[in-house]
Amino acid sequence: MTAQVNMFINGKSVPPASQLYFETINPADGTVLAEVARGTEADIHAAVEAADAASETWGSVNPMERARILNRLAQAIRDNMESLGRMESDDMGIPYEAQHIVIEGSAEFFEYYAGLAPSLQGDTIPADQDKFVYTTYEPYGVVGIITPWNAPLNQAARSAAPALAAGNTVVLKPSEYTSLSTVEFARLASEAGLPDGVLNVVTGFGPDVGAPLAAHRKVSKVGFTGSVRTGQAIGAIAAEKVMPVTLELGGKSPNIVFEDADLAAAIPMVLFGFIANSGQICSSGTRVLVQRSIYEEFSKMIAAAAEQIPIGIDKPFPCLGPIANQMQYDKVLNYFQSARDEGATILTGGEKATGEGLDDGLYIRPTVFTDVARDMRIVREEIFGPAGVLIPFDTEEEAIEIANDTDYGLCSGIWTRDVSRVHRVARKIKAGTVYVNTYHDHSVGAPVGGYKKSGIGRERGIQALRQYTQMKNVTMNLA
Ligand code: NAI
Ligand code: MG
Repeated sequence: MTAQVNMFINGKSVPPASQLYFETINPADGTVLAEVARGTEADIHAAVEAADAASETWGSVNPMERARILNRLAQAIRDNMESLGRMESDDMGIPYEAQHIVIEGSAEFFEYYAGLAPSLQGDTIPADQDKFVYTTYEPYGVVGIITPWNAPLNQAARSAAPALAAGNTVVLKPSEYTSLSTVEFARLASEAGLPDGVLNVVTGFGPDVGAPLAAHRKVSKVGFTGSVRTGQAIGAIAAEKVMPVTLELGGKSPNIVFEDADLAAAIPMVLFGFIANSGQICSSGTRVLVQRSIYEEFSKMIAAAAEQIPIGIDKPFPCLGPIANQMQYDKVLNYFQSARDEGATILTGGEKATGEGLDDGLYIRPTVFTDVARDMRIVREEIFGPAGVLIPFDTEEEAIEIANDTDYGLCSGIWTRDVSRVHRVARKIKAGTVYVNTYHDHSVGAPVGGYKKSGIGRERGIQALRQYTQMKNVTMNLA
């Protein structure tokens, strides 16, 4: 019989009020991995009440003690690296040899925010001599975190670690496509000494549990990672409640290659920029802008490099795993059809990958498009698959203009040896991150977040910790 996975509420594994379960699938071979509890508003209510009851105590724990507990959570992740990694591969399709990157990253979020927890200190404000004025950072209380399926545990940790470090309690709702590692993490955290109710996980579908979580009266802040459409829905709920949100949404990030770039270094990294995690990364550099003098040469080189990438979840890394779920697989192939219909040229890929070990999985070949026009869907919309478009430009000004011609503004890349140009272009690009002669290269302390429709607020870094707090000002009359 298929294993049943329950929710984790108030320190216990809890079956769903609905008594219903749904299947989660392994995208590498189509097998059913487990049946996951199908949550409803009743489960959200139970989880929020547990989080609310735990909030007063957790929020007043000495930050040094909170830090020690968060370090134990990090250690629990490290001690279970292999089983958590395997769970992530089975549920979402990350290649076996890449598991450790996302799992180790998850542990690092807890280590980083454990270190920062005791540093959340306010200011004393200069004022009249008969006044004493100071500020403190206070937790919100109960924070709701809603995560997508493209790096499940990593994204859960990225938001939960700063929220918990700041003294909030958390109700986490993982994506219905990839619930397993988040539920398992909550269990491990409890075993490692996190008090009951501090971290609760409610599984299920967006409208059934995500929406009531965001709307719950006792949830005072939401951290969301996912699509623009759902981000807008959560933003609308937040507007009604006058509740702050962190929204980490999509992207259509430009990666600009100038003619003086070191092409031997650029080619593999630019390719990695849009095929890493089979393209299912919000910051993917999917619009590759190439200076016209090297456009032909670059096009040939990157297509050749794409064809060298091994495909299969068990291949030596760097390799391509499957797309994480059927919905996304269909969506990517749909975009490829739109590219054909709109007249783009497929330099390589553009179809599903077949062959030994691939036929039952959701595999798609690394894909490079050229001869694209600015209004094509593949140029304007987030594909979230292993695909990039090549766009020629003549001058630096034109590169900047094309780079910014998008509704998004999450990430960007610049490839050049000219230091002055680096700073000129970095200053003009409207995006939360600028990589220079590198890509997908993110230190845990470097903030990420979007300009324009890519989001509101910042994840990672000290900024994220502060965004899970609210500031209080105290003014005292000494006279
Ligand atoms: P989604 O944004 O609908 O899902 C993300 C999370 O939100 C999931 O946990 C989902 O259950 C929840 N959710 C869905 N509807 C909700 C609602 N009304 N209220 C509250 N929570 C809700 O993304 P989905 O459908 O999984 O993927 C659609 C597209 O979004 C992808 O094709 C991709 O283009 C983009 N995407 C972007 C991500 C990013 O990191 N920027 C991550 C995942 C998807
Ligand atoms: Mg799955």
